[in-house]
Amino acid sequence: MSKEKVITIGLCGFGTVGQGVWKHLKRCRPDLESRLGGPIKVGAIAVRDLKKKREVKAPARLISADAMAVATDRKIDIVCELIGGTTYAKKLTLAALRAGKVVVSANKALICDHGAEIFRTARKHGGHFFFEASVAGGIPIIKALREGLVANKFPQIYGILNGTCNFILTKMEALDAPYCDILQDAKDMGYAEADEALDVQGWDTAHKAAIICWLAHGVWIGSDKMIVEGIEKITPQDFKNASALGYEIKLIAIISRDFKKNEICVRVHPTLLPAGNVVANVNGVFNGVSITGDVVGTTQYIGQGAGQDATTSAVIGDIADAVALIRNGKGLHLSEVSPSEEKQVLKLAPLENIRSCYYLRLTVRDQPGVLAKVTAVMAKHKVSIASVIQTLSESEGTASLVLTTHESDEKAMEATLSQVSRLAAVVSKPLLLRISDFTE
Ligand code: NAP
Ligand code: HSE
Repeated sequence: MSKEKVITIGLCGFGTVGQGVWKHLKRCRPDLESRLGGPIKVGAIAVRDLKKKREVKAPARLISADAMAVATDRKIDIVCELIGGTTYAKKLTLAALRAGKVVVSANKALICDHGAEIFRTARKHGGHFFFEASVAGGIPIIKALREGLVANKFPQIYGILNGTCNFILTKMEALDAPYCDILQDAKDMGYAEADEALDVQGWDTAHKAAIICWLAHGVWIGSDKMIVEGIEKITPQDFKNASALGYEIKLIAIISRDFKKNEICVRVHPTLLPAGNVVANVNGVFNGVSITGDVVGTTQYIGQGAGQDATTSAVIGDIADAVALIRNGKGLHLSEVSPSEEKQVLKLAPLENIRSCYYLRLTVRDQPGVLAKVTAVMAKHKVSIASVIQTLSESEGTASLVLTTHESDEKAMEATLSQVSRLAAVVSKPLLLRISDFTE
C-alpha cells in the first residue's frame, strides 16, 4: 500500500464543517486508506483569520490564509470548498476545476446559482465536482437520486431540507416560544448559515430544491421561478391551531412534475402536513425527504440535516469517491453523470394554478359582523370554507380567526388575501399557509 501515491486533500475553510472533516478524517483515515487501497492526507488548510481560536487543532504548518493557493496547488488532488458564499467560493472552485482537480463542496447556494457553469468547467478541464453535503446534511440523498434510483422518473419529491428551520419550528412548538428566541441556539449548534436569513426566509431550502430538481429532471430552476416563503411569520399559536386541526407545520420543499403536461413546479413554504405523515414527524435538526419514483414507488429518507458531524459524513463520503476516482483513473462515475437536459420540452407550471387547501390566520377586531365580512370576501373569490376557529387574541379587543379552506388555487387566495388585508376590522397582516394532502 505504501507505494501508492499519497492523495492529498486541501481544506478551504476550517469552520464548522472544515474542522469536522479534519477531526473525522483523522479518526477514520486508516480504515479509509485500507478500503481505498492507498494513503491519503490533508496537505493544506486555508482560513480567513489566522488568529481565530478554534475548537479543533491542526498543525500550524498546514494553515494559511490563501485559499486560492491551496485550490491551485499542484500537490493538492482534492479541494474541499467549505467556505460558503457565491463570490470567492465560485472563483476558487472554477480555478481548482480548471486545474483538473476534484472539488468537494457543501455549498448549495453556489451550486444553485452557478451549477451549470461549474459542471461545464469540470467536464471541459477533466476536473470533477462532488456535492453530497450540499443537500440534506448527512442523508446521502444525491447518491440515492443519481445512483440507487437511476431507473426512475420522479413525479413528486417533497420534504424538509433545512435543519435550522426544523430545529426552530420543533422548539417553538415544544416551548411555546417565538422563532427569534430559538434562532441563537441553532446558530450556537453550528446549524445556521453565516447569513441566517438564508435559512429562516427559505432561500437555503430553495437552493437545495433547485439541486434536487436538476438531479431528478435535468433542469435548473432558479429561486426566482419558485414560490419561496420562510418561517418568520409563524407564531406559537399557529402550532396550537394546526394541532387542533390535525396537522404539523413544517418548512417543506415540493418538486413536482406533471408528466402528461410536461410541466414542473418547485416551491418552498411552511406547510400544514397531516399529523400522521412520516415527514410531519421528523423533528429537531433532522431532515426528511419523500421521493416518489415511477418504478420504485415512494421511498423516504430521514437523518440529521445540518451540523458538523452529519455534514462531515457527507463530505468524507465524497472524498472517498474522489480518491477512488483518482486511483482508478479518469472517466465519469455514475455519481457524476449529468441528468439528460430536458430544457426544450419541460415547461414551468404557472404558479397561480397550484391547487391546495389553505390555512388563513387573521387578527380582527372582536366586533359583530367581522366574520361575515371575511367570509363574504372569500365567497366573492369562490373560496369555500372548511372550518373556522376563533380564539381570544393577546391584544385587548381583538380575536384570532383561523379559517381553513377546501381546495382552491393560488390566484383566488392571493386575491382573497389582498382584499381581506384591507378590511378595517383586520388589524394585522394575515398569515396564509398551504395545507398539503400528502398521505405518505
Ligand atoms: P463557517 O463555520 O462559517 O466556516 C467558514 C470557513 O471559511 C471559516 O473557517 C472561515 O475562516 C473560512 N473562510 C471564509 N472566507 C474565507 C476566505 N476568503 N479565505 C479562506 N477561508 C475563508 O461555515 P460552515 O458552517 O462550516 O459552512 C461551510 C459551507 O458548508 C457553507 O457553504 C455552508 O452552506 C455549507 N454547509 C454547512 C452546514 C452546516 O451544518 N454548518 C451543512 C451543510 C452545508 P475563519 O474561520 O478564519 O473565519
Ligand atoms: N443551514 C443549513 C441548514 C445547513 O440548517 O439546513 C445544512 O445545509
